[in-house]
Amino acid sequence: MRWKEQLLTLTPYQPGKSIDSVKRQYNLDQIVKLASNENPFGCSKKVLSALQSHEVGFAIYPDGYATNLRESLAAFLQVEQEELIFGNGSDNLIQIISRALLHPEASTVMAAPTFSQYKHNAVIEGAVIKEVPLINGDHDLDGMLKAIDDKTNIVWVCSPNNPTGTYIPENKLVSFLDNVPPEVLVVLDEAYFEYAVADDYYDSIVLTRKYQNLIVLRTFSKIYGLASLRIGYGVANPKIIKALEPAREPFNVSSFGQLAAAAALSDKEFVEECRTVNRKGLEQYYQFCEQNQLTYYPSQTNFILIDFNEDGDKVFQYLLERGYIVRSGKALGFPTSVRITVGSFEQNEGLLKVLKEFLRESRVEQHQGK
Ligand SMILES: Cc1ncc(COP(=O)(O)O)c(C=O)c1O
Repeated sequence: MRWKEQLLTLTPYQPGKSIDSVKRQYNLDQIVKLASNENPFGCSKKVLSALQSHEVGFAIYPDGYATNLRESLAAFLQVEQEELIFGNGSDNLIQIISRALLHPEASTVMAAPTFSQYKHNAVIEGAVIKEVPLINGDHDLDGMLKAIDDKTNIVWVCSPNNPTGTYIPENKLVSFLDNVPPEVLVVLDEAYFEYAVADDYYDSIVLTRKYQNLIVLRTFSKIYGLASLRIGYGVANPKIIKALEPAREPFNVSSFGQLAAAAALSDKEFVEECRTVNRKGLEQYYQFCEQNQLTYYPSQTNFILIDFNEDGDKVFQYLLERGYIVRSGKALGFPTSVRITVGSFEQNEGLLKVLKEFLRESRVEQHQGK
């Protein structure tokens, strides 16, 4: 078979380890998974009751236009229904956008390290990839502007960025958008938008009105706690949405996903509560880092990237064997760090206790090595 050559160079996405496999492998009863930036508090009770009270016809395809959800989300965001596109997770939207705009004669610009799926999809489409290194965990927006050439079709901006957790302040984002040529699509991935609390965080929906070449991606997988139902959305001016729609498969969002997402929007208190508790959780980690002289990036998300000055895999493995699944920074472009999803107060306490033990042991080892 004549596979696309670039496929042979790719490995499939490596998800965080599953709870069951870790339980079996290390003979543990209790596992805490803080690896994939899911919501440790699950989802709103309103979602659960909506799903229970609704009869979904399993034999019937979902509504390919997501009509009810579209109405609810348009009202929630105060946008027109034609400004929305839905995806089977925002991963699916990244794929749709790449499919629509990338090809071997096109180039695409992104930060590095950033969310892996921009590059992954660009490789599949055979596009020229221009990666611009982060500076201190932040997007180098000037560098990204310089990297744009007359073949560039997409610039990816991840704010807050995964895996650093850092965001782009409003003034910097606006001056960047002012300078991107109008024929280049800017994809602003805001998967962690609902967790952000910075004063100078921008209103991206307003920006889509001003910049006709901007699409904002968001998801119900993070603060809304619906990762397993796979539902994300894009907001952009109707011309962009119309151009993208043919690249979307017709029934890409399940009936359950549509129902759950609409119910999730109706529970603002749940989202606020999760945001507040998440900030307190981040404080637990900040305090730990400061007490132990570890560097980290202040986060606008529900995860934190901590530099242990040690092989990230070693820290990861130590935690894994004690029942905590996190992400080693090695696969994320930060070889001496680990990325930890903020859990409940107790989960954070438990994990930090293990990390303190790790630091104590590794400092003893270093001392003995001298
Ligand atoms: C920055 C970013 N974008 C997109 C996604 C994909 O989210 P989903 O496909 O679950 O909506 C993630 C998931 O971790 C992410 O971190």
